[in-house]
Amino acid sequence: SACDKTNSFSEQKSWEDQQIGKATLIFGSKDKKRSISQDEYEFVFGDQIEFIKASETESTDEFDDVRQVQPVHPFESRTKSTLEKLQEERKTLPVYSYRDELLQAVEKHQVLVIVGETGSGKTTQIPQYLHEAGYTKRGKIGCTQPRRVAALSVAARVSQEMCVKLGHEVGYSIRFEDCTSEKTVLKYMTDGMLLREFLGEPDLASYSVLMVDEAHERTLSTDILFGLVKDIARFRSDFKLLISSATLDAKKFSEYFDFAPIFHFPGRRYPVDVVYTKEPQADYLDAAIVTALQIHVTEAPGDILVFLTGQEEIEMAAEVLKHRTRGLGTKIGELVICPIYANLPTELQAKVFEPTPLGARKVVLATNIAETSLTIDGIKYVIDPGFCKTKSYNPRTGMESLQVTPISKASARQRAGRSGRTGPGKCFRLYTAYNHQHDLDDNTIPEIQRTNLANVILMLKSLGIHDLLHFDFMDPPPTEALIKALELLFALAALNKYGELTKVGRRMAEFPLDPMLSKMIVASDKYKCSDEVISIAAMLSVGNSIFHRPKEKQVHADNAQLNFQTGNVGDHIALLNIYNTWKEVNYSTQWCYENFVQVRSMKRARDIRDQLERLLERVEIEITSNPADLVSIKKAIASGFFPHVARLLKNACYRRIKHPQTAYLHPSSGLAQVSPKCVLYHEMVLTTKEYMRNVTEIEPKWLAEIAPHYYQLKDVKDSGSKKMPRCQTTSTEYCI
Ligand code: CDP
Ligand code: MG
Repeated sequence: SACDKTNSFSEQKSWEDQQIGKATLIFGSKDKKRSISQDEYEFVFGDQIEFIKASETESTDEFDDVRQVQPVHPFESRTKSTLEKLQEERKTLPVYSYRDELLQAVEKHQVLVIVGETGSGKTTQIPQYLHEAGYTKRGKIGCTQPRRVAALSVAARVSQEMCVKLGHEVGYSIRFEDCTSEKTVLKYMTDGMLLREFLGEPDLASYSVLMVDEAHERTLSTDILFGLVKDIARFRSDFKLLISSATLDAKKFSEYFDFAPIFHFPGRRYPVDVVYTKEPQADYLDAAIVTALQIHVTEAPGDILVFLTGQEEIEMAAEVLKHRTRGLGTKIGELVICPIYANLPTELQAKVFEPTPLGARKVVLATNIAETSLTIDGIKYVIDPGFCKTKSYNPRTGMESLQVTPISKASARQRAGRSGRTGPGKCFRLYTAYNHQHDLDDNTIPEIQRTNLANVILMLKSLGIHDLLHFDFMDPPPTEALIKALELLFALAALNKYGELTKVGRRMAEFPLDPMLSKMIVASDKYKCSDEVISIAAMLSVGNSIFHRPKEKQVHADNAQLNFQTGNVGDHIALLNIYNTWKEVNYSTQWCYENFVQVRSMKRARDIRDQLERLLERVEIEITSNPADLVSIKKAIASGFFPHVARLLKNACYRRIKHPQTAYLHPSSGLAQVSPKCVLYHEMVLTTKEYMRNVTEIEPKWLAEIAPHYYQLKDVKDSGSKKMPRCQTTSTEYCI
């Protein structure tokens, strides 16, 4: 937009100097000087952002505890084998100097809280040390991660270091992907997967050591694990429990685990220069892009790490960065753009860890994942817009939404720290020092206090934990959220009125899915369409990455998408049509290209579907197919999703039947132009408005058949009365 402003970093005297006259900026590697004129710079980079340090009075002392350490030089010898080099690299990690002390501490104490800087080797090294010390002779060593990408990439790294094939001695297990074998002794997994393992092995008998890693993240699954493993540690004296965290505030963990000792080892950190924008930024994404480019052309060599909130933002930023740098051709150094986020396909994830070519600069566009779970070497600059996507949950409406929210001070500090791992760094905060001081919370609220609990409650109930009010939560969830979850499980018939697990509930718990999805699958048995319903569930589980919508071919892409919607069948059936057509063409990649469907997502859907098919067998549901009977398929879906039904009020505005909450059809929905009278939706997303994503038209009268306990006749009568639906209070008492 504003290509005519001038650039100024208040901190960059050199830049100011260069601004005089027709400045020529020198940058790139020393061997190959490149230059760009001021005009070109302004033309390409547009809006400028000004950064300042925090003023003296509100100066951030957050990096005062930095230790000055001699840089460790990477081993350069070219004659050494990769394995030897890896082994030598291992010895340069901070944790290595504490190897023996650490092993002694583990030997001596059953539960140990470990605190060490991100990148110091906790995740990759400690399980190996324990393995070398013989702990795997009496069981596996498990290490949990809050994120799938982290579990996967760390397992890959450790298998390299141990020179074994991934999936043999070192493996990983993430939802829908088990890469372990009989041989596996070091198992990295998501915290959610370990939780599921409790169903088959409530005492974790096959583990000798468990390391709950990234404990500071306080994910829902980690918090539940805490309660479960604390108990195991009490009755299994041979079991070792390590709780590891990257943040200093580990007292709370220690206290919770009966005052377990804290093993704190110093990391390697360099000073980080933190600067803030002078003005608040209206568009942080744009500001992040501009800042990345400014760094690229004005700052010394060193890679950039940009924290963004999600896949869409990352893809958009990557595109804009490519576009803007392309205009300059070889006049600026190469910018290697590396996205990294949870759903990024494995083969592309590796790129982020590859060394930056000489003369080029890498810019890593990452979600929160790079805050502590993943360590990317060579980062010198961090751009922190100050936001992340967090789940929030409104127990009153039962609505869960992913919202872009400000990060906490603790997060900001972690992010800044990413730039000072291998040398002095610099962090550009895209918010003002005042905002930092006054608007950011000190710590992130644990997920357990802001999420829908139905999933874990179903799990805990299946583990025989009945008394949820007295479960040993580190921070208890709000009672209201507990009750809401119990109500939902009751409505889904997973629990009876005494709060006990029913047969339906037992079956549902087998599926690693949200209860509503599990219920839809279990109900497909009745409607004789399990074959179709698991395809739909698999496609829904892939997320919103089925379609590929390149900018230059949006119309084509949209038309291709509409092809699957013939007859306004709705998004669920469209997903089924896509899956089935792809199957008919023998899972052809070419077909995906032609139809703007992402082949990777489809392959993942197929994997998930295969697993769901196996799980059907386990819960003794027959595979039945009834492709022509769309009503039965929709009824099966509605059996799980009946709480998510909304009726058209007027002008494309909908209202949920049981909640006085309005919503709109998401523009991506095939029904967006149709506005059917009554719809069922898969999820509600909150962007500029409340949008229902993945919707299907249903007939209200089905609800009386499917969920008579939830809807009353007046709710489902076709001519909706003008009165606001009254909130229902159930008289059932719940055992929590
Ligand atoms: O867990 P913590 O943050 O303490 O460190 P780590 O994940 O064990 O990482 C230690 C070192 O291993 C990092 O400095 C990376 O250089 C390297 N690493 C890697 O190269 N590739 C990975 N996928 C993970 C770690
Ligand atoms: Mg780690």
